[in-house]
Amino acid sequence: MHPKAVTILRLFRTKDGYISGQHFSRELGVSRTAIWKHISALRNDGYLIEAVPSRGYRLVSSPDSIDPDEVRAQLKSTRVGRRLEFLKATASTNVDAFRLAEEGAVEGTVVLADAQSGGKGRRGRVWASPAGVNLYCSIVLRPAIMPHEAPQLTFLSAVAAARAIEQTTHLIPEIKWPNDLLVSGKKVAGLLNEMSAETDGINFVILGIGVNLNMTAAQLPVDLRHPATSLFLEAGSRVDRSRFTGTMLNELDRLYEEFLAHGFGPVREEWQRRCNASGRQVLVSDSGTDCTGGRFIGIDSDGAMLLRSDDNILHRITCGDVRVI
Ligand code: BTN
Repeated sequence: MHPKAVTILRLFRTKDGYISGQHFSRELGVSRTAIWKHISALRNDGYLIEAVPSRGYRLVSSPDSIDPDEVRAQLKSTRVGRRLEFLKATASTNVDAFRLAEEGAVEGTVVLADAQSGGKGRRGRVWASPAGVNLYCSIVLRPAIMPHEAPQLTFLSAVAAARAIEQTTHLIPEIKWPNDLLVSGKKVAGLLNEMSAETDGINFVILGIGVNLNMTAAQLPVDLRHPATSLFLEAGSRVDRSRFTGTMLNELDRLYEEFLAHGFGPVREEWQRRCNASGRQVLVSDSGTDCTGGRFIGIDSDGAMLLRSDDNILHRITCGDVRVI
């Protein structure tokens, strides 16, 4: 896409309603005829742009593809998205981001893909990643923290994805420990962190984020124990994938800046507020067998769950499935 067309999209994002040809022409330093040509090119790319004489142009809708230029046009971030790699298809964006990070990719590098053939889930599971519907992205971060603190970063991505869901739909997602996002009790997003570390510090962390945006019921994976859904199925209307991606990356950037400045505290607080189990009685099971019960107190500084059982003992739990009772 032509850089001037990217600027046009950026200007549309800053203002609801019409923008005059004269305003565009002044902002971009080109003639109104040139603006008209860029608008025509955007229309050819699937943007619906209304033109009304004496009022100007209005962006009515964007194409339902993840368009890296469209994502770039939305970014207000300082770090996250500094470099953006878009792939039509790949095995796994986490694998790509890991390789780029090993080659020295700058902090904030984002790998986005339209489809994944080997999407990786937690605990060796497969993450269903069909083309044209969802968000699959991986972000390279290089914070100066110790390896045991790295899990804290997954909580940032959970909160960023939750905020993006709220800003782009009317849905209020819940977080399920350790880091699933649920709508109506079904999973809409999953997060997978990977890291490269030495004993005295980390080299980089990859934040992998998958969000089921516009998947139809037929495309959902069948898992009776962990049912999945998509924002489209829950909200009843399609989500603009580029807008969702831009919103989420901006939120992640904000949270990461806060994390670097003030540590894990503020994120932990918001995460706990959003967690479906906070303050409630839960049962934790491992491989289908219930093993620990108690009140969910919150998360520890390494992301472990803190449970207080009826005999007043505080338990730290690092893996298992949580059920609110
Ligand atoms: C989970 O099992 O809940 C984690 C799923 C994580 C999926 C995302 S999609 C983008 C990134 N690339 C991958 O291969 N996995 C993560």
